[in-house]
Amino acid sequence: MNAFWENLFTEQGTLWDFHPSDSALIALELFRKNNLNKILIPGVGYGRNAKPFYDAGFENTGIEISKAAIHLAKENQLDFKIHHGSLTDMPFDNDFYEAIFCYATLHLFNKQDRQHILKNCFNQLQKNGLMFFNVVSVDSMINFSGEKTGENSIKLKNSLDVNFYNLNEIESEFKSYNIIKISKIAEPIKHMKNQQALQCFNVICQKN
Ligand SMILES: C[S@@+](CC[C@H](N)C(=O)[O-])C[C@H]1O[C@@H](n2cnc3c(N)ncnc32)[C@H](O)[C@@H]1O
Repeated sequence: MNAFWENLFTEQGTLWDFHPSDSALIALELFRKNNLNKILIPGVGYGRNAKPFYDAGFENTGIEISKAAIHLAKENQLDFKIHHGSLTDMPFDNDFYEAIFCYATLHLFNKQDRQHILKNCFNQLQKNGLMFFNVVSVDSMINFSGEKTGENSIKLKNSLDVNFYNLNEIESEFKSYNIIKISKIAEPIKHMKNQQALQCFNVICQKN
């Protein structure tokens, strides 16, 4: 998985441009309303969805496996700390965060790794903090082809193994983390014309 992302960012640079996803804008408003400022962004990429938080004055910290993506973030004046490494090796610091935002990344891991990531994110969340995960929905599975590796997972031709979530699986995987809201969202593919929106879920959890 590491080689795939390194090659992608090396060859295609800021391939999704800097148009933030609708989910990032929703999270921005939610975090602002709750006066949350210090934010951890696992799988931050080159910062497409970190930029709205950065521009709004949030204190961002990212985690990212691709050195090329981290370099692209710096090249584009996203001057915040990004830990280089795998989310499966979390934690990378001893800090507590007021909010966590993770976009289109969790569904790229197997169940065991997803549990590790969720547990470690929740561990680093401050009391009353919010975590916001965007994951792909089973409703979009029909638009992808490859080898089926599980009931709702497919190994795509590019070698990524994607877990397409249904509501039951979300409730089961996030059950220990005080879910406060699960919503469906059709994420427009903003960098491409006439592309079908990606059906996703946004999951919001709060630490008491
Ligand atoms: C679909 S992209 C989403 C990027 C970013 N969240 C965004 O919204 O633009 C998935 C990201 O997760 C990163 N990633 C993949 N596997 C990872 C791992 N094991 N540890 C940390 N980051 C990883 C990839 O390099 C890529 O930047």
